[in-house]
Amino acid sequence: MKKKKILLVGSGAREHAIACAIVRSPQQPELLVFASSINPGIKDLASEMHVGDITDKEAVANWGKDTQADLAIVGPEAPLETAVADALWEVGIPVVGPKQELAQLETSKAFTRDLLTNYGVGGSPKYKCFDSMDGVEAFLQELGELYVIKANGLMGGKGVKVAGDHLHSHSEALEYCQELVDVGAEFVIEEKMIGVEFSLISMCGGKTLMHFPAVQDHKRAYEGDKGPNTGGMGSYSDADHSLPFLSADDVNAAREFNEKVAAALIEKTGQPYKGVLYGGFMATAKGVMIVEYNARFGDPECLNLLTLLESDFVEILEAVVADALDGIEAACQPFASVCKYAVPEGYPDKPLKGFNLDMSGVQGVSTYLGAVDVKDGKLVGTGSRTIAVVALGSDIKSAEAQAESQILKLKGPLFHRKDIGTEELLDQRIQTMATIRGN
Ligand code: GLY
Repeated sequence: MKKKKILLVGSGAREHAIACAIVRSPQQPELLVFASSINPGIKDLASEMHVGDITDKEAVANWGKDTQADLAIVGPEAPLETAVADALWEVGIPVVGPKQELAQLETSKAFTRDLLTNYGVGGSPKYKCFDSMDGVEAFLQELGELYVIKANGLMGGKGVKVAGDHLHSHSEALEYCQELVDVGAEFVIEEKMIGVEFSLISMCGGKTLMHFPAVQDHKRAYEGDKGPNTGGMGSYSDADHSLPFLSADDVNAAREFNEKVAAALIEKTGQPYKGVLYGGFMATAKGVMIVEYNARFGDPECLNLLTLLESDFVEILEAVVADALDGIEAACQPFASVCKYAVPEGYPDKPLKGFNLDMSGVQGVSTYLGAVDVKDGKLVGTGSRTIAVVALGSDIKSAEAQAESQILKLKGPLFHRKDIGTEELLDQRIQTMATIRGN
């Protein structure tokens, strides 16, 4: 029988985890990859790999057609913004990854807050959308010291500025808003919520969804949640598929939000959202609130989730495009998971580049390659999140011990956060949440 050909767009560690999940399908599909660079981990798994501009919708769609792909999955957000999913559907290739209009869920903060408000989803703090300075000062005064300013568009994590973290006075806030107005950017100002963040990611076919376990990412570069923001330094999930600081009601609330957002998108656009629905939530004194939505797998969260996934990922992808997720077995192993990223010295502001890496001593964990290349047969770090290690265990403590023992075996000018998944950090999260809930 002819093997199915699955096209993967993208080539970071998230896409390495997606590639691993595709090739371990019992259907033994062929993996085709349209990449922005050669990731040696993905190359080893692919039957064909093409390097090009992953945001060039015609180039991706034509390559998919030439290679006779049966199904595609888009890893990162940038190609979703440039309508790569639309172009693939147009040449007859079904895609896991929303069309451009639906990807506004990630690319436009105003689109999402208005969707949540106007279609009865809820979960939003007080907010207002702006494209000029009219009313900005008055709204900041109404919010006092609790505000967040979010620029529309994909800004690589740099478009969100939080009072107390990035902005220390209303005059700094006004200056940032003026900068956005000067470049013609729209932005949202919203009330800053107080609580603990977590991610709840679902596969979504339009009307049917499959929910993954809740995960917590760590955005700051240094231990104790200090230092500059990064793409994410690591993440963990618990064996019961919740997190130690969440109640069962919190997890259910997050799942319900994802379900309501999928329904709201159909109502607003008339089109089903087919892709990964990544809810960024905050557990607060008022219950679970929505921080943001993303239109693809979180990185690093994807590495935990797809390592845990025991069902056939290709069957899940097919059920997404057919909107038949309710008809398939979709299960994750009953283990806790801890993911830690090794990043170059100096990351994220002045990362080392072009250094040698040796991962030959690492054993008994899953490893995913990110910003790496091969030069003269040797593995070389190229300057961003380099290698992720994911360990599973009966509890977070044992998974953390295994991840930590193995990441220490990587050789190269790298660092990682030792605190991710430790008992001390978990206790802090539990205490913070207990204080917030008034217990
Ligand atoms: N986990 C952060 C992100 O993927 O945007």
